[in-house]
Amino acid sequence: MAKERLDKLLSSQGLGSRKEVTRLIRTGQVVVDGNVEKRPESKWDGEKAEILVQGNLLSVQKFCYLMMNKPKGVVSASRDPRCKTVVDLVPDKWRRPGLFPAGRLDKDTEGLLIITNDGDFAHRMLSPKKHVFKRYEAVISGTVGVPEIQRFQAGIVLSDGTKCLPAQLQVMERGETERVQVEICEGKFHQIKRMFHTISCDVLQLKRLSIGALELDRALEPGMCREISEEERNLVFLRAFSTK
Ligand code: URA
Repeated sequence: MAKERLDKLLSSQGLGSRKEVTRLIRTGQVVVDGNVEKRPESKWDGEKAEILVQGNLLSVQKFCYLMMNKPKGVVSASRDPRCKTVVDLVPDKWRRPGLFPAGRLDKDTEGLLIITNDGDFAHRMLSPKKHVFKRYEAVISGTVGVPEIQRFQAGIVLSDGTKCLPAQLQVMERGETERVQVEICEGKFHQIKRMFHTISCDVLQLKRLSIGALELDRALEPGMCREISEEERNLVFLRAFSTK
């Protein structure tokens, strides 16, 4: 782990805002490698240094894994010169260098997004060969029947000739607009919207409900996030098939 400022390091481990941890440090409540360290700007490797905060040994976690309920109107990026990003919404206690969204949802799409600084995990989850299932709920214009469900099952061919892998389409609510759920195991650009265009439907709303067997925590309001456990991380790969 690279060396980091002590205040940033403590804050990234959930010990309080930068201001709060600076107070802890300046008032002598932080001991690093046996010496009281009163300089918030001093740099340490959190995995190598022995850090005691108010007498308690800190176990520094290198990687952070967050589940976010992405709201509409923010972009799935770490930084953007014009728009608010999902990483901008991460509370200070989880902020750290290198956080990024593992996979993209369109600006107007909401729902489950994983934000992490673990590139290997993201790569495994997003690898086209791994085919991790993602379930979405959509409100669409138009109507779908058995022929459309069968076309999704057979693998839709997009307007540019791209062939999609088989997808499951289920109607949840009939009406002037219809509420449907779709399950896909790849992540082509605007895939769901483009799949519906081929059957002459527009996607009016789109929300991701799950990735693999990991479901969006319904207690999370849009824009909120929480840490996910190792067990929950493993759920991502439970509903996947590998072609590698
Ligand atoms: N498919 C889309 O069209 N948009 C998304 O945000 C995700 C999947």
